[in-house]
Amino acid sequence: MSGDPRTTGTAEPGVLALGLPDPVPDPSLPTRVRIHEVGPRDGLQNESALVPVEVKAEFVARLAGAGLRTVEATSFVHPKWVPQLADAEDLMPRLAGLPGRHPGLRLPVLVPNERGLDRALAHRATDVAVFASATETFARRNLNRSADEAMAMFDPVVARATAAGVPVRGYLSMCFGDPWEGPVPAAQVIGFGVRLLEMGCAELSLGDTIGTATPGQVTALLAGFARAGVPMARLAVHFHDTYGQALANTLAALRSGVTVVDASAGGLGGCPYAKSATGNLATEDLVWMLHGLGIETGVDLAALAATSGWMAGQLGRPSPSRTLRALLGGSA
Ligand code: HMG
Ligand code: MG
Repeated sequence: MSGDPRTTGTAEPGVLALGLPDPVPDPSLPTRVRIHEVGPRDGLQNESALVPVEVKAEFVARLAGAGLRTVEATSFVHPKWVPQLADAEDLMPRLAGLPGRHPGLRLPVLVPNERGLDRALAHRATDVAVFASATETFARRNLNRSADEAMAMFDPVVARATAAGVPVRGYLSMCFGDPWEGPVPAAQVIGFGVRLLEMGCAELSLGDTIGTATPGQVTALLAGFARAGVPMARLAVHFHDTYGQALANTLAALRSGVTVVDASAGGLGGCPYAKSATGNLATEDLVWMLHGLGIETGVDLAALAATSGWMAGQLGRPSPSRTLRALLGGSA
């Protein structure tokens, strides 16, 4: 496929040739953002076709090569629940050399319970994440237990990982809307979020799992966390783009002082246990906006676009990312 923009990143005449517009900073925004890339995990967990482990390893390596320094690699969940990531044991050794080649690279993995943590530690994971739910229905569907029982399941995971020097990220899903329960009260979200932080999670990622949130809700929820005494430095945002709101919601979060944003290369993603969850905010869309605002990310956008274009070719379907399609001349 030599010369194919999906594999080489070569753009047809057009947007990429013009380059990014001159950055115009906004003084109300941070000067640097850390992107938490979730494509290999949140993206690939939702693919109907199994992606070969060699392709996953190359995907992670190429994302690291494009400058992403946090790349969530896989999940040590029950293989029957998420067969797409059942090859976690096979993938990890293939990634072992990457942090040496890319200083500062972190490759977190999801672990739901102690069994998952044991598997992750056996494969020398240096960062793990637990994933809670702000609603009862999603806790039962995603974790097979109540929201409180799920918290009890995470408690020893967080304690043991932290004692082993492995930082834990806490995800909280359904922070805005839930497909079964409707709007989720902010107090309920803040309650679970504070519990995850008090449990010992170093960072809390607030998930709009089904992408229904709008910017005012984001600002209000973050203000609620601030009133509860949570510093913005401990929060991250995780927007799915189902209703096209992810970028606007991100801007609202940045204005509130958040500096860690989750995104997925090419906009891959979804959750197999959340009705109507589609892809995450596309990393390309995020980087285009951040670089346009003069915000540093460390990401090489052309290399990232080439990677996502290549992945779209591997998956055999176009990427939903507007920026990627523009950069690759519509052939992504
Ligand atoms: P369960 O069936 O209740 O598990 O599933 P259990 O504790 O009763 O154990 C049953 C058997 O499973 C036992 O085996 C365990 O050893 C085994 P047996 O003794 O019968 O032979 N088992 C495991 N095996 C391998 N690895 C493990 C594991 N755990 C138990 N980790 C469980 C409970 C949590 C395991 C299951 O519900 C599960 O794996 N759920 C994961 C679902 C998932 O991965 N969802 C997607 C990620 S969340 C997401 O995408 C949202 C996010 O992106 C944020 C957002 O967008 O909002 C993060
Ligand atoms: Mg997600």
